[in-house]
Amino acid sequence: MCGIVGYIGNREATPILLEGLKRLEYRGYDSSGISTLVDRSFKMSKQTGRVADLVRLASKDRVSGTLGICHTRWATHGGVTKENSHPHISFDGKISLVHNGVIENYLSIKKFLESTGVEFQSETDTEVFCNLIAYHYAKEDESSPTRFLDSVRRTLKHIEGTYGIAVICADCPNELVGARKGSPLIVGIGEDELLLASDVSAIISRTTNVVYLNDGELVSLKDGKVNLTTWDDQERTPDIQQINWDIEESELGDYPHYMLKEIFEQPEAVTNSMRGRFSDDRSSAKFGGLNISPQELRQIDRILFCACGTAWHACLVGEYLIERYARIPVEVEYASEFRYRNAPLDKNTLVIVLSQSGETIDTLAALSEAKRKGFRTLAINNSVGSTIAREADGGIYQHAGPEVGVASTKAFTSQLTILSMLALYLGRLRDLSYQEGIEYVDALEKLPNLIGETLKINDAVLKVAEKYKDMQDCLFLGRQDMFPIALEGALKLKEISYIHAEGYPAAEMKHGPIALICKECPVIVLATQPDIHGKLVSNIQEVKARGAPIIAVACESTPLPDDLVDDQIIIPDCHRSILPVLASIPMQLLSYHIANLRGCDVDKPRNLAKSVTVE
Ligand code: F6R
Repeated sequence: MCGIVGYIGNREATPILLEGLKRLEYRGYDSSGISTLVDRSFKMSKQTGRVADLVRLASKDRVSGTLGICHTRWATHGGVTKENSHPHISFDGKISLVHNGVIENYLSIKKFLESTGVEFQSETDTEVFCNLIAYHYAKEDESSPTRFLDSVRRTLKHIEGTYGIAVICADCPNELVGARKGSPLIVGIGEDELLLASDVSAIISRTTNVVYLNDGELVSLKDGKVNLTTWDDQERTPDIQQINWDIEESELGDYPHYMLKEIFEQPEAVTNSMRGRFSDDRSSAKFGGLNISPQELRQIDRILFCACGTAWHACLVGEYLIERYARIPVEVEYASEFRYRNAPLDKNTLVIVLSQSGETIDTLAALSEAKRKGFRTLAINNSVGSTIAREADGGIYQHAGPEVGVASTKAFTSQLTILSMLALYLGRLRDLSYQEGIEYVDALEKLPNLIGETLKINDAVLKVAEKYKDMQDCLFLGRQDMFPIALEGALKLKEISYIHAEGYPAAEMKHGPIALICKECPVIVLATQPDIHGKLVSNIQEVKARGAPIIAVACESTPLPDDLVDDQIIIPDCHRSILPVLASIPMQLLSYHIANLRGCDVDKPRNLAKSVTVE
């Protein structure tokens, strides 16, 4: 959730830290702060509000120095106040710390520290962490060159919970320390400078050389060196990896919002997701990193998908696709439920987790649980080097490019594309014929152009949005593979426009939600499948009979009669394997325009964060 950046080098730290922090703001944006070290004392600015406000404050406070840490917060312990925002400084002014994660035993440690006379300024678990380091620092041998690092190491032994931290010490102007357990942390190796960050995007403008910390590791950045050790002081040689992101990919360009930019980037994103992934005879897909042979895949008799939020909706589409084309039974679980549920699983089950960020804590825990039980695991994710990517036995990178808007768009359609390719690959290992494979690949190759065609509905969707922007409730209906798209449409609308919305299987509506139908509750119907067109028309009649305005999404060759619907958005005809991708686009555009017309902060919706790294 929260974003962390640390800097040590020859340059002024503040502008570098704040630039990194701006790029991390999507992780959390309740409050933000920075502290640097000058002449052995900390200069600090912190406040509630956005990083842009912090930039002004830090300049007013003249926060300077060549060593510093900063943080953008998504509140867990304690409300959104200046006192609770990070960095925190210890009771004796020796230690300053920023933290991402949750300390579970903070109350008992706080009690202990209070008994030694420590007074707390905030309600946070982080201040407890900071003061415990100071407590141990005071006890370490003053003459030891590793006194600071040792005090952090000693503290970690007492901490239960999750953390990614960056810490500085007033007595150590040449040292920046970091540690991780359950929250991501990376080191950036720049020219005469070293950085720490919770996310590559924070440091990409300064370096593409990074070292990923593993859980249970500490890092000391000192005199230009990266010293990596474990809790029990075992050294690890840093494995420097090259990031192949283009900085421009994460810039806004001419777009007013990242969400709109990312919606319009979808032709390119899915092209990149598919690049080099078709078999030579163009009748199947191929994936380089599965680490599971075709023979082994043929032994799989069940797939279990685990994910959260939008990625979970992608899994539901994956269920339809894989069952339809590969005839393998599929189950879909919320990762947060799976991790605590002792679900009986057949030994030939393949567990696949989906995560854009690759850092969602519940998805990571579900993956660990599946691994612990001995299941083969795969990860589909968009962040090269992320924890989930590194933990899974094999995986498929999405290559959709960085997604900054908190509401997922291009990462979702890229997941749908990969799942469609996976259904093709698994199908071709089983009963899908060569000819069907050829047609399938042909459809996938047309997908980027079809997305481009579909995006031409933007103006029409804007008009629909203008008409319905003041609604308070909204129902999304779809059948079969359009049901998850209805769920996703409802999620997009509620998360960025704060309108109450629900997604339902169209026929299931009669079993309860029909009671909500009235003329103030518009109903969006995904009426895109020719084979069940008649059924969908009946469902629409049921809604119409009860006076609700109907907005239909239909395909070119099967439009709905004008007197049946109030508004209609037409998308191109296409192969069923890619229909969920095209049908998602009107959902994205509608929620974007409605939220924008209502004056909502589209890229940073209230209470949300891009990457949910706490339970
Ligand atoms: C909604 C959204 C979230 C994420 C969810 C999982 O627009 O983006 O629901 O899908 O938090 O995140 P990842 O995919 O990073 O695991």
